[in-house]
Amino acid sequence: MVYLKTVVLLAVIAVYQISSQNNVPIRASKETLEKIDGELRNKIAEERGNLRLAAGFVRLSFHDCVGEGRCDGCIDSGNPDNNGLQRYIDVLSGVYNDHKDEITRADLFAFAGVVAANEASREDAQFDMSHFKVGRADCSSDGQENDPNEHFPGNNMQNLGEVTKFFNAAFGLNEQESVALMGAHSLGRMETRNSGYEGPWVNNIERLDSAYYQEVAERRWFLKVMPESNGQKHQWERRGPTGGSGNREGGNPGAKALLSTDGAIAFNMHLNQESGAFLDNQECSMCGVANNPPRREAECCEKNSGYNICREYSANNPQWMNDFAGAFYKMIDSQQTNLSSPVSVTTTDATTPRPTKAPKPGRKPGKKGKKGKKRQDFFHTKKSHNDAKSNRIRHRIQKLMKELREVSDQVKKMKNY
Ligand code: HEM
Ligand SMILES: *[C@@H]1O[C@H](CO)[C@@H](O)[C@H](O)[C@H]1NC(C)=O
Repeated sequence: MVYLKTVVLLAVIAVYQISSQNNVPIRASKETLEKIDGELRNKIAEERGNLRLAAGFVRLSFHDCVGEGRCDGCIDSGNPDNNGLQRYIDVLSGVYNDHKDEITRADLFAFAGVVAANEASREDAQFDMSHFKVGRADCSSDGQENDPNEHFPGNNMQNLGEVTKFFNAAFGLNEQESVALMGAHSLGRMETRNSGYEGPWVNNIERLDSAYYQEVAERRWFLKVMPESNGQKHQWERRGPTGGSGNREGGNPGAKALLSTDGAIAFNMHLNQESGAFLDNQECSMCGVANNPPRREAECCEKNSGYNICREYSANNPQWMNDFAGAFYKMIDSQQTNLSSPVSVTTTDATTPRPTKAPKPGRKPGKKGKKGKKRQDFFHTKKSHNDAKSNRIRHRIQKLMKELREVSDQVKKMKNY
């Protein structure tokens, strides 16, 4: 009897080791994604006014995809560029722990960005969720990594070439796609305690739309040096210098701000890369279209080829959203070798309404409406029923595998005695 048990256990160990050698990442099913979609939307809604989860998830999905060229579910908490992300990671870790056997952390981080972008977008131009794929492998089981090759973009970029160079090397984006991706900064804000920068980019920091481009390319901005307590970093602010040129102290709390890298998608600047200050005699202010006549103290910065792209996006939110989604999917799919085909996820509404403008009368129904109709489709319903069934079976198998793993762990421990 004891002999038989040992044989069974050894067989179990052998099977387990063979299966773990393959190391094929778990692929979340459509039902799993739909469940998680609902949970994420509820969390975003619950935390509104407390944590900026939509902004946090979108930023996290970007940071997860930098370094080693692909999204891998791991964030190097020792890298100061990741400051401020921990609170969002903590929320997703809770979700992950409930769904460990159904999804990889890398897929969850990427998916959270997609759900957040959709949740924060406007009815007239929703972030299209229908291109999401699964199959990203995790870099480690605990989500920690120490990745010395993880280089985030600098905050003092000075022209569009530098911005495009980064996004091209990281995710294969071209110039237009690089400009489009930066519009993510319509969500959230900068915080002194995280980055040394301070302020939101736009008025409504919970809505994902093209308002960012109006700020960048249709207003006037001045470079300011932040106080000592902010490490004397340089950011752009609306309030002009009271005299002299550029490099005046700023840090106006609550006021909108831009990084030089934000301005660089429309204007050329000449900056000391280390400090972020203007090079000698190179002061300029960013004069967008709503430009007051240039003042004596600062010439207008030279416009670059991104300026017209920004103007176009500012005037056409659906156009921008389309390009943004394209660039975002390129980012989260970058250098993945075994992704599924797109999983069409039927979304559920969050418990509180999204931050939207009411559609104008006479408008065609938005995507939401179409999705609602699709639900009544006979084949669709039947298919999802079958999927649910196979998912339940998969669930049971996964549970069994987990139990087997525990048994095999115990045997391994016994062997050590
Ligand atoms: C050249 C590129 C970029 C630079 C230099 C940059 C820099 C920054 C900095 C300094 C912050 C403030 C962090 C803090 O103080 O908490 C920030 C926040 C943020 N970034 Fe970027 N970023 C870049 C690109 C992107 C991209 C590609 C995305 C997404 C697709 C993104 C999404 C966000 C979001 C949503 C926030 C707000 C987070 C929050 O509210 O907590 N950024 N970024
Ligand atoms: C790709 O993913 C599928 C589905 O999970 C799996 O069966 C296959 O072995 C994977 N291929 C590679 C090369 O990892």
